[in-house]
Amino acid sequence: MERSGLSGQMIAAVAATNGTPVWIYDAATIEGQIAKLKSFDTIRYAQKANSNLSILKLMRRNGVKVDSVSNGELDRALAAGYSPEAEKGEVVFTADVMDRATLERVVAQRIAVNCGSPDMVRQLAEKNPGHPVWLRINPGFGHGHSAKTNTGGPSSKHGIWHEYLDEVLSILDAGNLQLEGLHMHIGSGVDYQHLSRVCDAMVALTQRVRRPVPNISAGGGLSTPYRAGEKPLDTEHYFRLWDEARNAIGNMTGTVPKLEIEPGRFLVSHSGVLVGEVRAVKKVADKWYVILDTGFNELARPAIYGAYHEVSFLTPAGEPVKGPAHPIAVAGPLCESGDVFTQGEGGVVDFRPLPLPKVGDLAVFGDAGAYGASMSSNYNTRPLAAEVMVEGGEPRLIRRRQTVADLLALEG
Ligand code: LLP
Repeated sequence: MERSGLSGQMIAAVAATNGTPVWIYDAATIEGQIAKLKSFDTIRYAQKANSNLSILKLMRRNGVKVDSVSNGELDRALAAGYSPEAEKGEVVFTADVMDRATLERVVAQRIAVNCGSPDMVRQLAEKNPGHPVWLRINPGFGHGHSAKTNTGGPSSKHGIWHEYLDEVLSILDAGNLQLEGLHMHIGSGVDYQHLSRVCDAMVALTQRVRRPVPNISAGGGLSTPYRAGEKPLDTEHYFRLWDEARNAIGNMTGTVPKLEIEPGRFLVSHSGVLVGEVRAVKKVADKWYVILDTGFNELARPAIYGAYHEVSFLTPAGEPVKGPAHPIAVAGPLCESGDVFTQGEGGVVDFRPLPLPKVGDLAVFGDAGAYGASMSSNYNTRPLAAEVMVEGGEPRLIRRRQTVADLLALEG
């Protein structure tokens, strides 16, 4: 069963009040995930996973800092109450490139910048000597749940290629830039064998820097289960590997760096569900299609990555739909044959053994709190869905449903 901690009755009540499609998040589940990472000195939330203001405020209340990857995400961080000044360490801007407006902005507000390309370092050095920077290094290898989420190695656009570290350090010195830390995010979806390689690479890099490194960041990428039976990450094991790495750095340099972790998915994935209404149930040859009022304009991960999300059906009263299992594909309303939630990589439609729902029942997608709402689009002129957060047993609308009038107001 899905892991959000939300009951069927709560899901049905929120759908009845707010309509469908609707995203629902459970605040306590997010807090539970935060608590699992408390050994790290800093938890920095990669808000790209879900940047709703109420989620950011919840993170802030729980002592979690924030990462922004665009000018818009900087606005969100500040609107949630985070302070921009690098000295406070609350916000870091991470990217491989900075447009002109963002460059002006990070300088004006003294926002620490995690640079993923030598050009970024150069531009900051020219614009604002002394600016606080992190260096995001590509150690030469990577890992990810899909080729599209692998962010290290020679095929990745991310980070400063390790062989250019010395060159970048000269730019740093020429511009008197302050080194805040070294950062490595090599992909989304962790395995431990791979992780020790990353830790070793961090230790080796720190040695090459030949100056104090006040912080190191392990990046994000902590994997979370999506399928029944998958084991959750052992966060203490994860911490131990990084803790050993930073102690090795301390022994080598005389300064033990502070340890940051930068998860997105790990903090929010389980907390969220996407709820749609069943609008058609049709037989195609010997199998079934259940078609909903929500599609890949809401939850894009299956269509983009062949990602798996558990789906279950509820009656309008919130009871699980029961009955014999049939081979069922669950699809959306978009005018595109790839609009199927149950598909594998390469777009192969997956018919899952599920009880047959009726029109008017609800479909609930689990583990949809990360890269769900934040990757939605307006394809087929479908307005963005509402978002609701349940806190202390009370549901609260945290984003109203967009209207088509909102969209048309931008055009003419
Ligand atoms: N830090 C950096 C620099 C990143 O590029 C990312 C993710 C993270 C942290 C957070 O990674 P996480 O802990 O959430 O795995 N849309 C894809 C994931 C793309 C991740 C991009 N970067 C998905 O739906 O799986």
